[in-house]
Amino acid sequence: MLSDFGQWFRGGRETAGSGDVGSDRDSDDLPVPPYPPNLGPPQLHFVRQMYDPFGFIERSFETQDVVRVRIPSQGDVYGLGHPDYLKRALLTDRERFRKSEDFRIAFGEGLLTVEGDEWQKQRDVLQPLFSRESVTGYADGMVEQIRRRTRRWADGERLALQQECRDMALDVLFATVLGRELELDGDERLREAAEALNEWFRPTSYVLPQWLPTPARRRFKRGKRTLRAEADRLLDAAAGNGSTEPAAATDLLSLLVGLREAGATDSGMLSDERLRDQLVTLIFAGHDTSATTLTFAFWALATNPTVRERFHAEVDALDGPPTIADVDDLEVTERIVTETLRLFPPVYMLPRETDADVVVDGYRIPEDSVVTLPIRVVQRDERFFEEPDTFRPSRWAGDLRTDLHDFAYAPFGGGPRICIGRQFALLEAQLVLATIGREYELYWLGDDDGEPPVSPQITTRMPEGREFLVTER
Ligand code: HEM
Repeated sequence: MLSDFGQWFRGGRETAGSGDVGSDRDSDDLPVPPYPPNLGPPQLHFVRQMYDPFGFIERSFETQDVVRVRIPSQGDVYGLGHPDYLKRALLTDRERFRKSEDFRIAFGEGLLTVEGDEWQKQRDVLQPLFSRESVTGYADGMVEQIRRRTRRWADGERLALQQECRDMALDVLFATVLGRELELDGDERLREAAEALNEWFRPTSYVLPQWLPTPARRRFKRGKRTLRAEADRLLDAAAGNGSTEPAAATDLLSLLVGLREAGATDSGMLSDERLRDQLVTLIFAGHDTSATTLTFAFWALATNPTVRERFHAEVDALDGPPTIADVDDLEVTERIVTETLRLFPPVYMLPRETDADVVVDGYRIPEDSVVTLPIRVVQRDERFFEEPDTFRPSRWAGDLRTDLHDFAYAPFGGGPRICIGRQFALLEAQLVLATIGREYELYWLGDDDGEPPVSPQITTRMPEGREFLVTER
């Protein structure tokens, strides 16, 4: 069955991505998308991608919204760089775009990877833990965890912020969703193993054939083994404390153990293997992305004095550390988070695979092809955002959100598989910024050339060891 994604490509970015006009033509007659001429010969694509992954992705969409690039580990990979196509792949035509095999390698059969009925069952079971009511109930616990860590900061200290935010996000996730407080200086095995899942997607390895045992892949395998063992330990420790009524459970561990003990066959995750996958998925998906958002938000504050002043004025007006009652008043803080997620979406690209031939803008994308949805490119597209590379939270103060194409801003994905943790993540980010901003100012100690250093893996993050100076306010 053929799905038509739009009109014939008419050349140039002004006209592409224009919609869903159907085509009666047989897809076999249609050309596949061209390799972008500015990327050089396809045989060299992987070298360019390895050394400058963002530059490579951005250049590939410079003149086309639908592109083809070659990567040894995957063969030809197709990129769909327009909100119309994101909408089709994530919502209106999503049956033809399944999740990619790489997700399964990293996360097994957890919510991030499974499909169809299996996915629906798992999502239904987990959703209550992320409802608005549950999430607002986590607010005090979040602030407690943030302060537990920042109380140790000293005036004049140099801080590797990405790591500190990673530890903080893991503390918050465990103390709230998982219902178990981590040790501040302990639980190292778990912290390191959670980090290692990212290694599967390290660009220097990712582009190479999967059978090559690169150092990053070995680290990934070790980390995955450790994390699964840690997941078993957590589940065993929670055994006997499962919620007798899983649907009413208030934390993930008692929910999962309760499901197993109650033999809840509708949950889609009764086997030990599935429970472990679910835990690994949530531990990974629930902290690395948040840590990255926070690190870039602090970088943006440190390098934009006017925004920083407004931010401090807003958080200084609070009576004390932020509470859930303050959140609606933290408008500047909210806009800072929104703009950070636009410029530096932690998940900068969503991978999918086609389940059938699809036609996009008059091009044929064959069945079983790897397709990427470049969120970062779309969110920095000047057709949708003025001065797209500038950090300007105030752009969100007016009607932009209502006027914008509904898939031009998609840091959490879209459609039914939109991030289950987005409200959690947004609340957490606001509370972290406000809690820290009231007491500290963070100075960026790196170069200030307009863009922060990034190390793209499965999430974009700041490379290890980049430091900020902490000063008490
Ligand atoms: C700023 C923080 C976050 C960002 C940017 C983010 C981004 C995303 C994106 C883009 C997706 C869609 C993936 C796809 O369609 O292939 C996703 C899915 C998911 N996220 Fe998040 N996420 C964040 C925080 C969280 C948190 C805090 C949790 C859990 C505590 C979480 C758990 C998940 C799960 C389980 C899925 C899969 C949902 C499904 O397929 O039904 N995420 N996230």
